[in-house]
Amino acid sequence: MATTQEVLDLYSKYVIGNYRRLPLVAVRGQGAHIWDADGKRYIDLFAGWAVTGVGHCHPRLVEAIARQAATLMYMPNTWHTEPQARLAEWIAATGFGGKTFFCNSGAEASEAAIKLARIHASAAGKGRYKLITFENGFHGRTFAAITATAQPKYQEGFRPLVPGFMYAPLNDLAEVERLVDEETCAIMVEPIQGEGGVNVAQPEFLKGLRDLCDHRGMLLVFDEVQTGVGRCGTWWGYQVSGVVPDIMTAAKQLGGGTAIGAMCAGPAVADRLVPGTHASTFGGNPLAAAAGCAVFEIIRDENLLENARQMGDYLRRRMLELKQETPVISEVRGAGLMVGVELAQNGADLVNWCLERGLYVNCTHDTVLRLMPPLNITRDVLDEALAILAEGVRAMRPAGK
Ligand SMILES: Cc1ncc(COP(=O)(O)O)c(C=O)c1O
Repeated sequence: MATTQEVLDLYSKYVIGNYRRLPLVAVRGQGAHIWDADGKRYIDLFAGWAVTGVGHCHPRLVEAIARQAATLMYMPNTWHTEPQARLAEWIAATGFGGKTFFCNSGAEASEAAIKLARIHASAAGKGRYKLITFENGFHGRTFAAITATAQPKYQEGFRPLVPGFMYAPLNDLAEVERLVDEETCAIMVEPIQGEGGVNVAQPEFLKGLRDLCDHRGMLLVFDEVQTGVGRCGTWWGYQVSGVVPDIMTAAKQLGGGTAIGAMCAGPAVADRLVPGTHASTFGGNPLAAAAGCAVFEIIRDENLLENARQMGDYLRRRMLELKQETPVISEVRGAGLMVGVELAQNGADLVNWCLERGLYVNCTHDTVLRLMPPLNITRDVLDEALAILAEGVRAMRPAGK
């Protein structure tokens, strides 16, 4: 096996440096643990942006992938395959019904949703094409997705962007109402903004968006790429508020670590995508789809929605207790196992401090610790992680002191 340095050297020579990477090489994962090339073990409180939601290398997931790989790995979408059909059934059964288009990533799911919203409006002869999205949102890195992503840092250097996007502050219904005009076809929002800092869209705000869409004949799109498939302690993030979208997207946790994305809509909208309008070579391939089915089965059979709610409540409670002790924590928020801890200062040093002690956490938007352990994390492992994290937070000096 190559040493850490050998792998880092290969990277610096051959891999484009578009990521800020840790100087670590991951070689193995099991449940909530990762091991690096030097044999050091880390507790994973991030689950790879919520991708490894059932933990690393869950035996049932591994078995499902191995079985499918040995049976039929790929077929073009000119054929039908059972895993794709079953996964679409899972999405409908756990969500609001509807039909699903499969792709390979969150950004592609956003693209599909944007295209569907526009073709739906176009087919209805309404001449509408504009979408409203939200400040600090994140929808991916393709062109329409970075345009939908109302954060200048993701757009710089890539202009001109895709026309027809307007941005509003999250939870500001009056501003959304002001932006809507006769050309607006859809509103797209994350039920909880992930990259933007674990910002919760308030239920009454989502309800307001639903009513507005209904009154003005627009579609409501929920980006569930980070919130979906159990992350919030419900199958889908929208189920926390009970506000049902017309279109929802998914990716990350859906494949348990294999690359898959999805976009689901009720038939009246979904059926606008007829042959020739949209496609993906790898979308819904049997391998990733079999993995997706296994993820749903594991969450159901191991009661992981309940575990996510219980462990999430416990995690937030422990963080709130810590907040009583130190002004370094200013707010704790989120749902299920999507937990944001707002720090009064930059969290980069804390992340490194934890990493040195074998705990992997993420800090997004500079100041928000984003804690998203696997849905099957146990209380013991969480306690071990929290002991390290609490020590790190206590050791932080409040900014300016
Ligand atoms: C809410 C949301 N939408 C879309 C994306 C893009 O997903 P991907 O990186 O798989 O393209 C992300 C990724 O972080 C996301 O969090």
